[in-house]
Amino acid sequence: MINILLVSSDLGRAQQIAAVIAASGVGHQLRTLAVGLKQVCADKDALQAADLLIFDGYHLTQDDIDSLEKLSNRHRELVCTLVTPAPSHDILIQAMRAGVRNVALWPIDRDSFVADLKRVAGRHVEAARHDGQVLSFVSCKGGSGTTFIAANLGYALATLRNKRVLFVDLNQQFGDAACLVCDKTPPATIAEVCAQIERLDASFLDACLTHAYPNFDVLAGAGDPVKAGDIKVAHLERIVALIRHEYDVVIFDVGQSVNPVSIFALDHSDLIFPVLRSSVPHIRAGQRLMHLFQSLGYPAERVRVLVNQYDKRGQIDLKTVEDVIGAKVSKVLPHDARPVLDSVNQGVPVLKLQKSSPISKSLAELADSLAPAPKASGNSVLTKLFRARPRTQPSPT
Ligand SMILES: Nc1ncnc2c1ncn2[C@@H]1O[C@H](COP(=O)(O)OP(=O)(O)OP(=O)(O)O)[C@@H](O)[C@H]1O
Ligand SMILES: [Mg+2]
Repeated sequence: MINILLVSSDLGRAQQIAAVIAASGVGHQLRTLAVGLKQVCADKDALQAADLLIFDGYHLTQDDIDSLEKLSNRHRELVCTLVTPAPSHDILIQAMRAGVRNVALWPIDRDSFVADLKRVAGRHVEAARHDGQVLSFVSCKGGSGTTFIAANLGYALATLRNKRVLFVDLNQQFGDAACLVCDKTPPATIAEVCAQIERLDASFLDACLTHAYPNFDVLAGAGDPVKAGDIKVAHLERIVALIRHEYDVVIFDVGQSVNPVSIFALDHSDLIFPVLRSSVPHIRAGQRLMHLFQSLGYPAERVRVLVNQYDKRGQIDLKTVEDVIGAKVSKVLPHDARPVLDSVNQGVPVLKLQKSSPISKSLAELADSLAPAPKASGNSVLTKLFRARPRTQPSPT
């Protein structure tokens, strides 16, 4: 079942489009609005409920293109279809830049319109079935930079890869990860959610989260070890069952504590990232942690060692780190004092603050290794339209 929002200022065209949708065999709910796109932009509820926006752009204007861009930036999951008669090459380019994913020619070609509808519905069903990826970050030793990396990676996946990300701060001490990425005061902490666990459902959880950025939410840490002690495995079990379906990626910042709650998080993680620095105390602690993971039965392919704050001029090279801890280093993140300091002091993700800094580049690479950039599909209607267009220039010989 997909929710379709049809925006058309012309009753006749709206009825024809609705008739094609009704006969398509795709399970749907249709809402039709006879208003301009600017008003649609302001109708947050209608947009939030919609999976597909079909815009009748018979008389497409620059204002419409601007509004479409605004809409698709704000509602990343929303698929936009533009209905337009004989669009020019420029219009197609602009529409694509504005986030339009399908262009349907007017008058509607039933077969290709229904094929697009089915594609959107299929993607929607896939997404609904999808269980989010769970990643846990563990400090081998205090001050490794675990919280910094985990929180900034969350931001990278949300913004660079358009994933819906939830960061869960399981630190026993000073759960303050939320303030590394934004200046919002968390409405509640994980300990407070657990204290009212019988109320837990999607809307209660949503009210407790810090909505740091459009695709990036944070469940704030307990704040102190006494409150953290009230979090029980049964609580986390209920939280995980809920959030796995709501998010593409769930990131647990486990910190340094190994206790039943953190082991539950690790047990339910697709990947575990121990974070260490290349110093003797860190690699000793790393060695102990790797032994613990072995005794907990975590297979090597689930464990991805991160060496943070790495300085090539340091005394301990990566080969030594790997030999001592008995595991391959999966990724090295550089020591990059100034951008990191600015980021933590201002509470702004480093990728937002200094995108081209070495640490930002490493974080973007890490995000890329977890969620590679999608390859451009050769089958979209836009591609077909471009392909069908006759060449205006002779091809080089
Ligand atoms: N790549 C880096 N380059 C320079 N400084 C860094 C880097 N990563 C983290 N830091 C700094 O290291 C300090 C510790 O970082 P962070 O709090 O993320 O560590 P942690 O492992 O989560 O610590 P804890 O175990 O206490 O929770 C921070 O002040 C941060 O500014
Ligand atoms: Mg930390």
